[in-house]
This record gives sequence, structure tokens and C-alpha cells, in this order.
Amino acid sequence: MQQENFGHYARKLSEEEMEKLSKDKVSLSEFKRNKLEAEAKKNWDLFYKRNKTNFFKDRHWTKREFEELANISSDGEERPVLLEVGCGVGNFIFPLISEGTPFFIHACDFSPRAVDLVKENSLYDPTTCNAFVCDVTQETISEKIAAESVDVATMIFVLSAIHPNKMPFVLKNIFEVLRPGGMLLIRDYGLYDQAMLRFGPGHKLDENFYVRQDGTRAFYFSEEYLEKLTTDAGFLVVLSKYVSRETVNHKENICVPRVYIQGKFCKPEVADLNSNTNQL
Ligand SMILES: C[S@@+](CC[C@H](N)C(=O)[O-])C[C@H]1O[C@@H](n2cnc3c(N)ncnc32)[C@H](O)[C@@H]1O
Repeated sequence: MQQENFGHYARKLSEEEMEKLSKDKVSLSEFKRNKLEAEAKKNWDLFYKRNKTNFFKDRHWTKREFEELANISSDGEERPVLLEVGCGVGNFIFPLISEGTPFFIHACDFSPRAVDLVKENSLYDPTTCNAFVCDVTQETISEKIAAESVDVATMIFVLSAIHPNKMPFVLKNIFEVLRPGGMLLIRDYGLYDQAMLRFGPGHKLDENFYVRQDGTRAFYFSEEYLEKLTTDAGFLVVLSKYVSRETVNHKENICVPRVYIQGKFCKPEVADLNSNTNQL
């Protein structure tokens, strides 16, 4: 396998790692892969039945990484609007809320249990937050909240949980509810993240797409892949980069090289759209 085939990547693999990846073939039958897709919602809901609010840590880094969440002011009655897609139990939204964010927050997830846990949080205030159940691969978000009403949409480790064939629909779905000039912020798993390299045989579903033991799935993004997906949906790429982090696995006493991808994508202003059309 030639690592160069993937274009720009964040981490140089050892010979051994390259061999492992190249030997790992898709072995699950189409029937089983389709079943995982059909049961995606059920598997995430069971995940929250088992783990409640105890799995993901609160994401306190988001204002540092995305200035769009920090440098925002509310001028009077109209609050800026944020949509968190795939909110889980609120590990992204509650740190913002506890710091007094000016955003009105819509937060959706297809797991009814996750949405109930968001609503049970003592920081949940229905006058400034609207949590609702929505499968963004099937339902039109603009039927739940007004089209072109959102200033910032966020997907934090969510696009990776969605089947690659459905990612284009999901991005267009979000595009519709963003106002012109609005931003989509993404943080997700990057190509050659250590978690990708640790999958054993029988977990590969497609290129860079794997299933975990509990039936939830994870896609590992290259910069090129994410840029193509978002531009095909109509976004302009403001930023798309790998973020490398070393985390310590205290149990095994080893450093784990994690690779994430982080991107900012803008819905063009009407004027930008017109000037692009004029060039065609
Ligand atoms: C890794 S969790 C991230 C949760 C949250 N964004 C955070 O930062 O902690 C991924 C979430 O995406 C949700 N999800 C996956 N596919 C979805 C879909 N098609 N529609 C809505 N939510 C989805 C899952 O239920 C899960 O809560």
C-alpha cells in the first residue's frame, strides 16, 4: 500500500501499520452492513441506555478552537442561533450554556434517550434551548426549524457516525437551515487516528469506515474527502486541517497518537453565489 495515495495526511505510518491496513478487507456481508445502517438509531439509543451521561467528557475546548463560538455578541432582543447536530447528551452545548453563551441553541439527535437526558440537565432552559429528536439522514431539518435561520451549525464527532453515502444529504440538509454567510463547524476523526488502526479483522465496512463492538460506526476523514463533501454541498472551505494530539493511556502506560480533523465551512452570501454563477 502507498500511503501517498491518500494525499496529505497527518501521521506517517510504520511499515507494520501500513501492512495491517492493507490486509484489512471488508468481510461483513452486505446483509449485515445494511442491517447496521437500518439499526443505527437503535444502536446509539442503546449506547445511551448503557452509558447515560457518563461516556463523553464535556467539551471545554470549543471556544478556543472556534472563534465563531467565542466572538459573538447579542445586540438586544435577537439572539444569534446555533444548531448542534447529533448533540448526544449535551457535552458540547452545556459548557457553552454554563458560560452564558448569547446563542439560542437548537440541539438534535436521533436517539430519543439522548434528547431526554439533555432535557433533564439542570442547565437546560427551554426559553434559550430547543432539544428535539431528528434523524438528519432522513428528516428535513427545515421542517423542524426555519430555513436560513441558523448562524452557526456544529457537528462534533457526528458526521463520522453517518454512512458515507448519506453524508451528502446531511450536509445539504444543514446548508438549507443556515443563513447566507452562516458557518458549519466540524470536529471529527482523522485518517490514521490510532482508533482506526486498532480495529481487528471483521470490523471494516468500507474504505475508512469501521464498526465498533456495540454496532456504532466511525468514518476516518482525510482533508480532501471532507473538502469535497462540503464543497459539493455548496459550502466554501474556510479551514480544513488535521489536529494531532498525544493522549496517555494510563492503563497500558502508552502514548496514543490521536488524529482529528477540524473544519470551518461557510454558506456563501447571495452575492458570492451570483458572482460564481457569472463566471460559469
Ligand atoms: C460521538 S456522539 C457526539 C455527541 C456530541 N456532539 C458531543 O460532542 O458529545 C455522536 C452522536 O451523533 C448522533 N447521531 C448519529 N447519527 C445521527 C443521525 N443520523 N441523526 C442525528 N443524530 C445522529 C448519535 O446519536 C450520537 O449522539
